[in-house]
Amino acid sequence: MKFFLDTANIEQIKTAHEMGIIDGVTTNPSLMAREGIRGEENILAHYVRICEIVEGDVSAEVISTDFAGMITEGEKLAALHKQIVVKIPVMESGIRAISYLTGKGIRTNCTLIFNPGQALLAAKAGASYVSPFIGRLDDIGEDGMDLIERLVHIFELYGMETEIIAASIRGTGHIIKCMEAGVDVATCPLDAITGLLNHPLTDAGLEKFLSDHRKLNG
Ligand code: E4P
Repeated sequence: MKFFLDTANIEQIKTAHEMGIIDGVTTNPSLMAREGIRGEENILAHYVRICEIVEGDVSAEVISTDFAGMITEGEKLAALHKQIVVKIPVMESGIRAISYLTGKGIRTNCTLIFNPGQALLAAKAGASYVSPFIGRLDDIGEDGMDLIERLVHIFELYGMETEIIAASIRGTGHIIKCMEAGVDVATCPLDAITGLLNHPLTDAGLEKFLSDHRKLNG
């Protein structure tokens, strides 16, 4: 399973990159706004900065909701850097835009996926990735992991090339379940990834090793 970092925060991206654990980055307009990135020039420059830190794919989301706007934005974003994947919301104009951009050799990530039908249409249109949101389904009392498991099954059944990015991940439990489900990619906040390191027996074991060493060596 590949790990993408789900943030626009440069320090976190550098940290995860230096740990050698991330295969790409996903952003969205909310994450960009959280970092205070405003104005088209600054937004585009920020995407390039992220691409220069990591080696893998970097999802950059369009703001337009109409077909013409999406493809204009998509072409501009894709021209920024070879690692850019254009992120497009799942809607009729979005599916058309995915099909158009795919025809131009531009890779896309179809976002805001909440059911298998949406994922199917995005994949049929040629999306490189689909992003089902686990946490937001859990938030409304549905089962986000159930959607992931169904999508993995359906995509395997039909040999679809589109990769599934499990998104809206809230913690380590989601990450482990995604691994068990065989999802292609999990895009996660940094604290959810580093949370995988935690175990009380690791802490206790290390303390014992070090205290035994100190007894003989001071
Ligand atoms: C990533 O592609 C999504 O935009 C992101 O994971 C959404 O996460 P959230 O539901 O925590 O905002």
